[in-house]
Amino acid sequence: MKLFTVGPVACYPEVLEEMKRQMFSHRSKEYRELHKDVVERMQKFLETNNQIFLFPSSGTGFMEASVRNCVEKKMLCCINGEFGRRYAEVGISNGKIVETLEVKLGKPITPNLLDEKLSSCPNIEAVTITHNETSTGLLNPLPELAKVVKKHGKLLFVDAVSSMGGIDIKVDEWGIDVCFGSSQKCFGLPPGLAIGSVSEEALEKSKQAKNKGWYFDFNLFEKYQKEQWSTPMTPAIPQILALRKILEMIEEMGGKQKQFELYLERSKRIREGVTKLGFTLFPEKGYESPTVTCVNATGSINGSEIYERMRKKGFELARGYGAIRDTTFRIGNMGYITFEDIDLMLKALGEVVNNK
Ligand SMILES: Cc1ncc(COP(=O)(O)O)c(C=O)c1O
Repeated sequence: MKLFTVGPVACYPEVLEEMKRQMFSHRSKEYRELHKDVVERMQKFLETNNQIFLFPSSGTGFMEASVRNCVEKKMLCCINGEFGRRYAEVGISNGKIVETLEVKLGKPITPNLLDEKLSSCPNIEAVTITHNETSTGLLNPLPELAKVVKKHGKLLFVDAVSSMGGIDIKVDEWGIDVCFGSSQKCFGLPPGLAIGSVSEEALEKSKQAKNKGWYFDFNLFEKYQKEQWSTPMTPAIPQILALRKILEMIEEMGGKQKQFELYLERSKRIREGVTKLGFTLFPEKGYESPTVTCVNATGSINGSEIYERMRKKGFELARGYGAIRDTTFRIGNMGYITFEDIDLMLKALGEVVNNK
């Protein structure tokens, strides 16, 4: 099965090979060296001096941590899809007051709307933005939105689960306080590791937090990182080895900008291919994601049917998500995918459209 999923995605063979290594203790010299190396590489990758924490969880663990560590009472969640909504649910389930800025699916959150909302909404401590809304294949204009959040002096939390590794993120320049991704997306690693950066201001806020729990306590992670280049609990060592491997491979392939160009080229090929087959794209023009293409299934075959028929041909795409489950389908281009695979997938999609 060739994977064009939205995570977990296919992994590079070199990455899988690296994960086969014999284990070592997370209190050993070997682990400390690995941890330090990965943290420093990630700081470079995200262009930040902030702490980088490696959580033995999926990305949602970091989402929950941002709320528990850094929000005392009230937060604002920007919603234009299922993952923006998840952030709001995480806030509510942790007892926070959650204001929302919600726009129609397929439309971006705009700086003007955010500015208006923040001007009319008192006592917001933090704003959450889904960088790449995986459920609709839409890229929100993060640099511009970040400027608005900073103008209002709020903490900025960015869910970069389906963008980190595939789309450039400049944490310090944009002033992101918590920015997290998951291993099983653009880095093309198996699931089980959340990678996130945490600013000084967020760490200060965490010091005052009540009932923030133990497992995802930012201050505890910082203590272990500073004192012993390790984590408070057992880390996901195979995934961390894999992360180092992919970061090395990205360097060898010409650096991170080359990686982002690769994602753009792959998504362009997919978009052009589906358009030639007569499909239209779900997100508003100009905001299409470079990592996930969300396609309208408005013809005679619905999205779920396209997904099922493509599976029979050996290609796993992704179904539509949430309210647009049947009216769309999605094609991920994260992880280990070749241009030849993309062409074969588009050929198979053409056959499905023509009922072959
Ligand atoms: C934008 C976004 N946020 C959050 C998540 C949840 O991530 P995880 O499954 O790693 O917890 C996903 C997963 O698809 C996602 O795409």
